[in-house]
Amino acid sequence: MSGGSTDVFKQYASFYDAIYATKDYEAEAAFVHSVLQDRGVKPGSSVLDLGCGTGGHAVPLARRGYRVTGVDRSAEMIERARKKVAEASVEVDLEVGDIREVRLRRRFDAAIAMFAVMSYQCTNADLAAALATVRAHLDVGGIFLFDAWFGPAVLAQRPERRRLTATAPDGDRIERLAEPRLDVVNQTVEVRYSITRFRDGKRLETAHESHLVRFLFAQEIAYFLEQSGFRMAAIGPFMDLSRLPDERDWNVSILAAAV
Ligand SMILES: C[S@@+](CC[C@H](N)C(=O)[O-])C[C@H]1O[C@@H](n2cnc3c(N)ncnc32)[C@H](O)[C@@H]1O
Repeated sequence: MSGGSTDVFKQYASFYDAIYATKDYEAEAAFVHSVLQDRGVKPGSSVLDLGCGTGGHAVPLARRGYRVTGVDRSAEMIERARKKVAEASVEVDLEVGDIREVRLRRRFDAAIAMFAVMSYQCTNADLAAALATVRAHLDVGGIFLFDAWFGPAVLAQRPERRRLTATAPDGDRIERLAEPRLDVVNQTVEVRYSITRFRDGKRLETAHESHLVRFLFAQEIAYFLEQSGFRMAAIGPFMDLSRLPDERDWNVSILAAAV
């Protein structure tokens, strides 16, 4: 992330799970599991979850028997992940760290970065640094599964103003307005969020924050991966590596192998 957005997930953490309550982390973990299995990475193997957030994937993967280590630079997200891990009675190692520089001094069988984590690495230097981190934690043949915003779809569909409502665990209503600004030169979308909490119909608070997200193109992804010691093994629509993505696919999944 760049441009003063370092703590962008700080406030966001308190709304994150309510806003993404309908995101099907179980299905996503099942997808991760099937891709890992296909590549011979079975439950019991070690998985590094970069930008793990509140543990949405880490917990179900740990439940399936993977030994998961999650890293996120937001202490608030990690705090929430710790609670979820405890509630689920699973074991997950969690660390606060920046994926552009963290070094855990151990290797993993696989790494994942789910829900556009790599798209939050907006500059070329940040993207390369994050990929160097991934590579430093894998042996040759180790795999890396991630997803990103896909340039052709972002440019064809154009980001739109969106309003979303959700219910927080305490019953408060959360309303999130997302106002995007597209920058075709830097390949970014700045999404300005206004998140308002209502109780009994009354507005309690509004938090404002802005996320800068980079969209990527297939050749560029392949090139960055090659420069970082990976081979791009597959690219497809999010959670579907059976066909190539096109302008319909805002999110793409990418599978890379360390070489
Ligand atoms: C959209 S959230 C996804 C979280 C989680 N993977 C999920 O699927 O719910 C992006 C996450 O990436 C983290 N993140 C972004 N850039 C990071 C960096 N350079 N180092 C560590 N974490 C980062 C944020 O703190 C945030 O938790």
